[in-house]
Amino acid sequence: MAPLNRRNLLFHAPVALSTLAAWATAGARPAQGAAGGVPAATAFTPSETGGRSPQDIARDESYWFDVQQAFTIDRSIVNFNNGGVSPAPAVVQQALARNLAFANEAPAYTMWRVLEPQKETVRERMARYFGCDKEEMAFTRNASESLQICQLGFDFEPGDEVVASTQAYGRMVTTFKQRERRDGIKLVQFQIPIPAEDTAEVVRLYEEQITSKTKLILATHMINITGQIMPIKEIVAMGRRHGVPVLVDGAHAFAHFPFRHEDLDCDYYTSSLHKWLFAPIGTGMLYVRKDKIAGLWPLMAANEKQDDDIRKFEEIGTHPCPHYLAIADALTFHQGIGPENKAARLVYLRDRWAKRILENPRVKLHTSLNDGLACGIATVQIEGIDSRELADHLWNNHRIFTVGIKHAEFEGIRVSPSVYSTIEEVDRFAELMERAVKKGIA
Ligand SMILES: Cc1ncc(COP(=O)(O)O)c(C=O)c1O
Repeated sequence: MAPLNRRNLLFHAPVALSTLAAWATAGARPAQGAAGGVPAATAFTPSETGGRSPQDIARDESYWFDVQQAFTIDRSIVNFNNGGVSPAPAVVQQALARNLAFANEAPAYTMWRVLEPQKETVRERMARYFGCDKEEMAFTRNASESLQICQLGFDFEPGDEVVASTQAYGRMVTTFKQRERRDGIKLVQFQIPIPAEDTAEVVRLYEEQITSKTKLILATHMINITGQIMPIKEIVAMGRRHGVPVLVDGAHAFAHFPFRHEDLDCDYYTSSLHKWLFAPIGTGMLYVRKDKIAGLWPLMAANEKQDDDIRKFEEIGTHPCPHYLAIADALTFHQGIGPENKAARLVYLRDRWAKRILENPRVKLHTSLNDGLACGIATVQIEGIDSRELADHLWNNHRIFTVGIKHAEFEGIRVSPSVYSTIEEVDRFAELMERAVKKGIA
């Protein structure tokens, strides 16, 4: 029999795909720097990666070929909009299908009595990965739900102010605007540079908005339209000095690049798990610091006895529990790749197309290529070409899917490959962009 390695397992699908996760974690180790008795995020041991650095692994096409094969995507198109929502690898789809089939045997028993309690082990694993207590981790359907629990769950008085940048996600702005109409609060929005390379300046800009009426800051961990990573820990510390809590929109950040709660120190963190964790579509997370739970209303009413129970945010009536259980499979897949390796690969892919086309003076990048300021998402503009038309051209003529963005402060196409993207796809995109610069898109 062939030796048991990652490739053999992948090529023995479907059994192989469902066992990849178990194999991948078999050699997982707690990373250095675990604090407060909470083990840090796990990754492959150096022996499994030959002691190589994530940057080294990022260039190893054989390693990524195996990861690519774990997905069931359509290779007749190139999907460079993984920021919107990600396909789940086969192992996650299979777990979901398996659990859904079991749930449907006799849902009142199999789903509520057997599967639902297993959510607690998923909660524990997610909390351990994020670096918080399991009693601080709630599952939601997406980042929108997690964010709106917080945006609508605080008691605000008329005249109270909330602060957000002009690059905050549209739905979150809509949510605060509804509170303006309904409760008489005021949303204060302000601009930050694009890209924002001076983190102290970003913190200062947030601080400048604070008045005696400010009750909440909404800060986006990774801005969706540019991929900009924000200095969350510094914004949180500044907010705390003023007695203003910070709600972090981590829709794109969680499992995109490695960090833990202690790196942010926020009281409220939210994310969609169907983006960069590759969990089933319709899964999200909400972190609320233990002593803040009682002070936050849930979106749907919960029993008074649950006031300080994180599960009050999950009181949404009958819902599909199999999705939440398959988060565990996505987490195992993510840990199997290694969070550091994943982030390094995303940066490698981004730099490969971005640095190549930036050689041309008409190409403008709205994303910093500096370490720690962005990762796999970047937004690029060809001066003289309408960005929405460019995105349409890439899709209509070449079946490359990007997002055309027109924002009041800039425009461009957002490009977000993933771990399953190939070098050939990235190079094809870069070549077509070069051709667009030279010959136009008419
Ligand atoms: C920054 C940001 N916040 C929140 C969301 C909402 O995510 P979802 O639609 O998964 O709820 C998105 C979606 O793209 C986003 O980019």
